[in-house]
Amino acid sequence: MTNHLMNTYAALPVAFERGEGAWLWDEQGNRYLDAISGLGVCALGHAHPEVTRVLCEQAGTLIHTANLARIPWQEKLAEALVGITGMERVFVANSGTEAIECALKIARIIGHERGFKSPGVIVMESSFHGRSLAALSATGSRKAQAGFEPLVSGFVRVPFGDAGAVQKIAQTSNEVVAVLVEPIQGEAGIRIPEPGYLAALRAICDQQGWLLIFDEIQSGLCRTGKWYAHQHENIQADIVTTAKALANGFPIGATVASGAAADAFSPGRHGSTFGGNPLACRTACTVLDIMKSEDLNSRAEKTGERMIAAFSSRLGTHPLLKEIRGRGLMLGIELDRDVNALKTDALANGVLLNITRNSVIRLLPPLIIDQEQEEIIVDTVCRLVEALD
Ligand SMILES: Cc1ncc(COP(=O)(O)O)c(C=O)c1O
Repeated sequence: MTNHLMNTYAALPVAFERGEGAWLWDEQGNRYLDAISGLGVCALGHAHPEVTRVLCEQAGTLIHTANLARIPWQEKLAEALVGITGMERVFVANSGTEAIECALKIARIIGHERGFKSPGVIVMESSFHGRSLAALSATGSRKAQAGFEPLVSGFVRVPFGDAGAVQKIAQTSNEVVAVLVEPIQGEAGIRIPEPGYLAALRAICDQQGWLLIFDEIQSGLCRTGKWYAHQHENIQADIVTTAKALANGFPIGATVASGAAADAFSPGRHGSTFGGNPLACRTACTVLDIMKSEDLNSRAEKTGERMIAAFSSRLGTHPLLKEIRGRGLMLGIELDRDVNALKTDALANGVLLNITRNSVIRLLPPLIIDQEQEEIIVDTVCRLVEALD
């Protein structure tokens, strides 16, 4: 087959034709259990009947008007996001990266209002925030950045999980305006900071008048057992970025803000042609309603606890195991070697999973997986790890 696609993805040798719940079928009719949900996107599973119904109904009614007129579904989505975050205002875009761009632009506006020439944002080592030039520059991966220099300036990098390093910058740097952090680092291999870390960042930001920006693009929307992972620590953000599961696969991203950050923009300062269209927003409203009515927070929490317990009991003493980490259904199993080959081995065993940082098996299954599916994932992963020599 000729391939005219740019060479950006090392795709698995499979193409899926249809899905239902946590199951996917390839072109030959083989069935796979999806343990990664399209990278944390299809939280409600594939072809969710209500999501499909709403998408079709809205597509037959009105897909797009641009933001040339009010968009009531966008207003409803903003109301829903404000309700689950306790924040104030929302900008709706089309992806996680765009949600990050919006957050960074808000930080810069506020910095300039304070008279800073080069407003700085503190970012973390091994973070991931997206592939646009600003999001890539904020990202803590030299590998992802290499070859794209000059990067966007204005980022100060510190180790993830080290509130002391942030405090140190507070003592020396006077043009910092925000701290950007994933409450749980996803691409870095499901890295969960010590309890109290996010609250310590909140305290530093309060003391310095900095914005605290949580990138919840991967960790948000019930994935960890709360609407947003920072809510485990009972703290408020100034800005939250959200995307991935928001419309269960229909592209959307949003930046939610409160206080000064919520009022940073005025007309013409930011925008998007597609962002916030009726189709994406109505779908997202439906997704949030389903997440709430099916109480996916407690489902994710309980399923995740059972899976971690099962992995620990089967792999706990495995000589190659470094660590089993997770919160809700954001799970990582770190081994002490490159296990990229496990992706294809898992596929051959009917499970779709992902490897990050070469040595971490990352699992982000749909939040609706049942106990049988949960056991299939655990058993398949354990058998593959046990077979490593
Ligand atoms: C934490 C985090 N931020 C930002 C992004 C970028 O989102 P998108 O790929 O939707 O642009 C991702 C994507 O994986 C992510 O995990």
